[in-house]
Amino acid sequence: MLNMTPSTPTANLHPESRAKKNWDKVRADFPALDQEVHGKALCYLDSAATALKPQAVIDSVLNVYAKDCANIHRGVHMLSQRATVAYEKARDTVKRFLNAPQGSHSVFVRGTTEAINLVAQSFVAPQLKAGDEILITELEHHSNLVPWWLLCKNTGAKLVVLPFDDKGQVDPAEFEAKLSEKTRFVSLCHVSNALGTVLPVKAMIDAAHARGLPVLLDGAQALPHLPVDLSALDADFYAFSAHKAYGPTGSGVLVAKTRWLEQMQPYQSGGDMIKSVSFSEVIFNDLPHRFEAGTPNIAGVIGMGAALEYLEKLGMQTVFEHEQALLTYAHEKLKAIPNVRLVGQAAQKVGVVSVVLEGIHPHDIGTVLDMDGVAIRAGHHCAQPVMEHFGVPATVRASFGIYNTESDVDRFIDGLQHAQELLG
Ligand code: ALA
Repeated sequence: MLNMTPSTPTANLHPESRAKKNWDKVRADFPALDQEVHGKALCYLDSAATALKPQAVIDSVLNVYAKDCANIHRGVHMLSQRATVAYEKARDTVKRFLNAPQGSHSVFVRGTTEAINLVAQSFVAPQLKAGDEILITELEHHSNLVPWWLLCKNTGAKLVVLPFDDKGQVDPAEFEAKLSEKTRFVSLCHVSNALGTVLPVKAMIDAAHARGLPVLLDGAQALPHLPVDLSALDADFYAFSAHKAYGPTGSGVLVAKTRWLEQMQPYQSGGDMIKSVSFSEVIFNDLPHRFEAGTPNIAGVIGMGAALEYLEKLGMQTVFEHEQALLTYAHEKLKAIPNVRLVGQAAQKVGVVSVVLEGIHPHDIGTVLDMDGVAIRAGHHCAQPVMEHFGVPATVRASFGIYNTESDVDRFIDGLQHAQELLG
């Protein structure tokens, strides 16, 4: 097993989580797996793009529309009260799941992208001036790159990029060296979506904090795959999307320290984010509601709560160990394939296997795999600078989730060999 200590694995650990799981039972919770694609049983290896949903999540969303179908925070009637309670319960679940510190709030947003844009526009933009620096890494998903690039373009600030080595790793000492008198903000992926690298974020956060700099972590690819303890990490902002964590699309969270939220202007404005409105004065609502303008994704948030509860029952340490075992197995099996290049070989990775086969375009490999019933992602994975670093336009990426087994890895390997036979 890979050595992995991204954070203290105390949060989201169910007491029984170390018990041996019946993974077939877990698979049976996911109705989407019970189908054929091109006449073959579906083998789903694209959880980094979006994870399949367990029946518990589907039921919770169905229940909103079938029974508790009402707007929240507004109605005196029973349906609205039930919907409001369920929506606010999801906030408690997020807090418990991440062991979020006392002095923080969970703001419900559309997803990681919106969370990062909120911080960029409401927290960083008002403080930024020409010559200031924002520090990110070369591993970022476009969602943690373009908002900062735009902000720098509009203000004359500079985007400073910490490079990764040829294994796909970043060095905390090099990170520290990139922090300068001009650095104003640091925004880092917790886990790389394209390569699976787990970044040494605790050391990086500590180094930034030693200079009084706030740090945002893009947790989209971390939260579903390893225990995250926000109190231990002490990130100022933590963003994630429900849909990669077995929840619905269109909902996500920004967990932010209260002292920063108090300084921030609302990102969007309208209903529900106010206490009172007249033509001469608007008084904003309390935190976190002042950052949730308009009717939110009620069913999406409630479904997200159900997804996190589902993961809590499994135990994140158990999830992590299961996916690490699959990763080790996949790395071993890849050795049997000639002319394959494993892109991203960090010592600390989640279950992501990004490969290129010499002389065959990843999209063609993706098509052969699809015909074999194997769903993977082929492309640049919204991380074009990562592809550029490795000198490839795209990779074939298999990404694991809790429902995957060694037999899924075998089918991926067989599919790669099949692509070589047909196209090599
Ligand atoms: N960010 C998603 C991925 O990595 C879409 O595939």
